[in-house]
Order: sequence, then structure tokens, then C-alpha cells
Amino acid sequence: MKATITVLPGDGIGPEVMAQAVRVLEHVAGKYGHEFTFQEALMGGIAIDKTGNPLPPETLRVAEQSDAILLGAVGGPKWSDPTAAVRPEQGLLGLRKHFELFANLRPVKTYPALAGFTPLRPELLEGVDMLIVRELTGGIYFGPSQEQGDGDTAYDTEIYTVPEVQRVAHVAFRAAQGRRNKLTSVDKANVMASMRLWRRTVIGVHEDYSDVELDHILVDACTMYLMTRPASFDVILASNIFGDILSDEASVLAGSLGMLPSASLGSGKFGLYEPVHGSAPDIAGQGKANPTGMILSAALLLRYSLGLEDEARAVETAVEQTLEAGARTADIASGSGSYISTDEFAQTVIEKI
Ligand code: IPM
Ligand code: MN
Repeated sequence: MKATITVLPGDGIGPEVMAQAVRVLEHVAGKYGHEFTFQEALMGGIAIDKTGNPLPPETLRVAEQSDAILLGAVGGPKWSDPTAAVRPEQGLLGLRKHFELFANLRPVKTYPALAGFTPLRPELLEGVDMLIVRELTGGIYFGPSQEQGDGDTAYDTEIYTVPEVQRVAHVAFRAAQGRRNKLTSVDKANVMASMRLWRRTVIGVHEDYSDVELDHILVDACTMYLMTRPASFDVILASNIFGDILSDEASVLAGSLGMLPSASLGSGKFGLYEPVHGSAPDIAGQGKANPTGMILSAALLLRYSLGLEDEARAVETAVEQTLEAGARTADIASGSGSYISTDEFAQTVIEKI
């Protein structure tokens, strides 16, 4: 098949891990007889430096003409002045909103090869395999917000509507049907009106999915259960901000934030794929970054936007085999263990494919 992919390397380690994901996709294209065209564009801090805008109109134009977006990472100390009028993160939030990418899928599993790498006891990690479905275009991230003129008051508003909760709940229930038929909806219904609407709406959507077991837990309890019984979760459904926080917490279960991919989807096949990690400016340019989250994001792109399930599996299996063979980037090398570079790790994945 032919596909056009918009590539937004972004800042910090973004360009280094992106180069590896593109190599992997080129290899997959050659091996399976596809033709992928990559179009690079500016987003984030680099776009601010070059155009003054974190999400230039040209980038949106390129992205609109493509089948999917692959994104590295955005942000860094250079642009982190909280009083600045433009910030790199606005580019990312703008992209999510522009394309109505309301469902963010963040799969988390423990790789047996890395189990010793987490701070949890190994027996707690057996069978950890969950999917966090995070609402991505609503809630407090996009509600009315303001810093009052006197500088003494600021507010952000959590707002959810029934249709917004319904559409992401459908994504989560359908995902559960393709997995272990269990959905845990996370809220704070004991305190927040928006979260009572959330719970009521999820209960309503459940009527269409009687084969899925649904439970509701409060977000504070969820943070604890993620550490005390992580293997009990299948699909977790959460609001924009709760999903943001819970997915960083869950990343501990995978051994490193560098391992995790994500897919942001709307109602069609178009999607944005990015690793969960940030731009890691402290290690940028040193060949130390773990390209796994980025490479696995490319695998999700193959699966969800291009419908290439076999190719997606081939990439995921190659990553597992690479880890089992002992290949380690700096973040997942044990204290005295040696590690290989970002490129060498990706080269091993390519050989396994
Ligand atoms: C994420 C990030 C973003 C978010 C930031 C960079 C705006 O933390 O994708 O999880 O909060 O959504
Ligand atoms: Mn986050």
C-alpha cells in the first residue's frame, strides 16, 4: 500500500528517536512491499525558534494531507519560562484539538526481560498488561482558564459533556472486547460534578457492552492499586488530566518511561503517534535515548491508521526479541551493565524484523 506520514521530530531527543522509527518503517515498507512517503514539518520549540509559532499553519497543511502523524517530543528548558506567551506544548495540544483526537491509547506491559528493573517486587509484575484510554480533547486541559490581572488568582475549569464522555467510553469498551473484557473507569465522583456526569455516562454506554465487566474506582485509590495489584487491570478509562497522571505512574511498571508508545485517535483512521516520554534535554544528542517508545508508536501507526496488523506485530515482536537478547539502552542497563546506543538498539530491532 501507499501511505503518507507526517514526521514531526520536535525537540530534545525527539529527532534522534524519530530517525530510528523512520528507519524501522522504511525497513518494513521494503520487506512487505509498501511505499511510505515521509513529510517532515516543524512543531514545538523548534517551530517557535524558526517561525514564532509552535504549530505553524504549514505544519497543519502538511498533516491534513497525510494518513498519520508521527511525533517525537516537544519542549525543553529553552522554552520553559512559564510567563512566555508561546510554549511548545501549545503545539501538541493544538494538534490534538485540530484533528479532534479525543482518544489517547497508552498500552503498558511489563517485559519479563525488564521485570528486575522496576522498583516493585517481581511477583507483583507477573501478567501486567493494561491499556490506558485517556480522554484527550476535553476536561481541564481545554476548559476556560485565566490568570487574573492582579496576579493573585488563577483558574482552570474541568468541563465534560455527555457526548464527549460517550465517544471515548465507546473506544474503551470496544478495546476491552478485544482484550480481557474488563474496564475500569476512573473518576472523582465523590467530589466533582463533572466526574459524576462521567460515571453516569459510562454506566449508560455499558448497556451496549454487556459482555464487558465494568467497575468504577476513585482516582486516588487507583494510584494505589496500580502499584499494589497492577496485573488486575485490563482497560482503564480516565479523563484528560487523570489519564495523564496515571499513565506516567503506570510507566514505572514497564521499567522505563522510554518504553511506552501512544496512539491518539479520532473517529476515523487518522491518528497521531508519539512516545509517552518527553524531550529529555539532559541526554539529548548523546546517543543515549531509548528509541523503543518511538518505534512501538510507529507499530501502532501501522496497526490503527494503515490497518497493517501483521507488520505492526512484526515490529512489536522484534522489540521483545531485542530485549530478550539482552540489548539495552542506558535507561534500562543495570548499574554495572554495558549499554548500546540509540542507533545500535534500533539496528538490532531491524535485524529481528
Ligand atoms: C503527555 C504530556 C502532555 C500532556 C504535555 C507535554 C502537554 O505530558 O502527552 O502526557 O500533558 O498531555
Ligand atoms: Mn503526560
